Amino acid sequence: MSRTIFVTTALPYANGSFHIGHIMEYIQADIWVRAMRMAGHTVHFVGADDVHGAPIMLKAEAENITPQELVKRYASERPQYLNGFHIKFDHWHSTDTPENVTLSQDIYRALKATDLIETREIEQFFDPVKGMFLPDRYIKGECPRCHAKDQYGDSCESCGAVYTPTELIEPYSTLTNARPILKTSEHFFFRLSDPRCVEFLQQWTTGSNAQGRKHLQPEVLAKTREWLGTGDADSEANLADWDISRDEPYFGIPIPDAPGKYFYVWLDAPVGYLASLKAYCALQGIDYDALLDPNGNTEQYHFIGKDIVYFHALFWPAMLKFSGRKTPDGLHVHGFITVSGEKMSKSRGTGISPLRYLEIGMNAEWMRYYIAAKLNSHVEDIDFNPDDFIARVNSDLIGKYVNIASRAASFISRHFDGKLAYTGDVQALQNECQQVADNVREELESREYGKAVRRIMALADQINQAFDAAQPWVMAKGIATASDEQKAALQNVCSRALAGFKALSVMLTPVLPVLTERVAKELFGGPRSFLWADASVLPTHIDAFKHLMTRVEPKLLDDLFEPPADATPAIVPGGEPIADTIDIKDFGKVDLRIARIVQCEEVEGSTKLLKLTLDVGEGRHRQVFSGIKSSYAPADLAGKLTVLVANLAPRKMRFGVSEGMVLAASHADDKTDAGIYVLEPWPGAQPGMRIN
Ligand code: MSP
Ligand code: ZN
Repeated sequence: MSRTIFVTTALPYANGSFHIGHIMEYIQADIWVRAMRMAGHTVHFVGADDVHGAPIMLKAEAENITPQELVKRYASERPQYLNGFHIKFDHWHSTDTPENVTLSQDIYRALKATDLIETREIEQFFDPVKGMFLPDRYIKGECPRCHAKDQYGDSCESCGAVYTPTELIEPYSTLTNARPILKTSEHFFFRLSDPRCVEFLQQWTTGSNAQGRKHLQPEVLAKTREWLGTGDADSEANLADWDISRDEPYFGIPIPDAPGKYFYVWLDAPVGYLASLKAYCALQGIDYDALLDPNGNTEQYHFIGKDIVYFHALFWPAMLKFSGRKTPDGLHVHGFITVSGEKMSKSRGTGISPLRYLEIGMNAEWMRYYIAAKLNSHVEDIDFNPDDFIARVNSDLIGKYVNIASRAASFISRHFDGKLAYTGDVQALQNECQQVADNVREELESREYGKAVRRIMALADQINQAFDAAQPWVMAKGIATASDEQKAALQNVCSRALAGFKALSVMLTPVLPVLTERVAKELFGGPRSFLWADASVLPTHIDAFKHLMTRVEPKLLDDLFEPPADATPAIVPGGEPIADTIDIKDFGKVDLRIARIVQCEEVEGSTKLLKLTLDVGEGRHRQVFSGIKSSYAPADLAGKLTVLVANLAPRKMRFGVSEGMVLAASHADDKTDAGIYVLEPWPGAQPGMRIN
């Protein structure tokens, strides 16, 4: 039966470019959507930018532009990434749109009419200079427990204490340095503690959809139990009412009949899913209301990361339910992607840049394949590991999959004019292709991508083994003068390999849409990309085999992790120009420390780098990679003192994380061969001393 399915991914904040975590989520969803479409289902797959909130407002202000201008900058780059990785949303919208304003206000009005909204006076920190209430992350002060300075308003990075901003000693606003004052104002709350909400959420979180699949993965359900209680009479639900309003100045959607009040960004953000779908429906002439009829058959799934479960498993279904709308049929929650085992952080900008990946000519389908191979249906983190990436792509995709076609096709083209023919029982071959494809299809629907990929590669192994065992290269010797029977035998071996290759291509279509479209059209001469039903249809001819995919060269991974060569400033006669003037405060941001080079080693596979182990008096050692190999041997440096930029954001390199930068002098252009000179302090300096 053909199904109608509405799919979304989390709406990215529009104050930054996509990072690899976003791309991973979109690839996961895109594979799922493609797999469902191949089964003949109708899927509406939409996204949007999440543009509201204080951080975007303040960032725009700091740049002297409007929030709309800031958002536009990031919105305009989105297509480059999405097209580049073959992520095919039907529509991409924004939360700053008439659709979203209307929908958010309508939902609010409905909740209010159901008596689920109440107002309360609350007391909060207010920046008297800036004239605004301060979100916790804009308040800092001394930790009330360990007295570490400059800790955030909600928790201490030094001792781990959790507290409220009002407990901070000597609090200050990070916006103006002013001491915040306590001020009361009226806030709007969604009364989630209402028994109707609690009861509904007990039901929804433990429930299943019409497909018989649970709304929530087991570990996500377990998380909601912590928040909701178990539903037993003696277990207390500790669901707090949700503060959905913010006072002006705020970049957001005005609350109806409440001058100066705006919806908190997390209220209107998920409504953006509906706004995007609605705008898409208008463009396509689809009846939006019928599509999302609460009693209709449309299925609704949200792909999200593990950090935003609270909003999607509790607030969002409740908002929908009590405004009389259709509730989701499932959340598809994924873990985080790390790079070489390190958590990436947006603010520090580590990790891999998706745009750079594309710019240096890496194939987007390598990444799609690698991510698919690593994902499962659980909320587990996955790691991007450069060596693993190279191995998987080269040995699986090229060595196992593409290899089948390149070997079998040449015999067929050379000796049989592209015609395929089979001898013996073909039913078993067809059944097997069908069987594996059915399993893969089910695994993709249940988001067990890794399992599906392993199953596909196991079939590829089997096809290669059968091909090798038959030794077609031996059969092909003197084939021109061989008997018809001998010819048919060779043709059969190659045809079976190609039938298997076709089935593999069908199964890989959601993951490798571009490559397999070429296989479908250019190799097998078909009119369109593969559908699931094509897996067991034996091909009858091929066109000339064209090169399908190149291997990953390890050098590309080096490029991915190292800054481009042209990032070094241009040479000017007489040396580099002096940089723009800074004041002492700017200089103070750079924390320079004396470091002892405890150990210095060569880096296998790198012609430029030395690996330094440094003691900066922190009670631990740091690892720093430095591009000084052309001028120093490890023995020159071991035991010496030098100068380290100690607060530089850690940078992921192909060989590991570099935690700072050693100072060295050179000409901007190393072609001058003047060399590189590592700085060394005068005698007496101690590791950890600050340089001012
Ligand atoms: N704007 C909110 C979502 C609103 S949805 C109505 C938001 N934006 S985000 O840009 O911070 O994150 C967008 C998505 O990217 C989330 O699903 C988040 O979990 C995901 N990821 C962010 N970092 C990630 C990784 N390192 N790995 C995988 N996904 C990650 O949250
Ligand atoms: Zn502390």
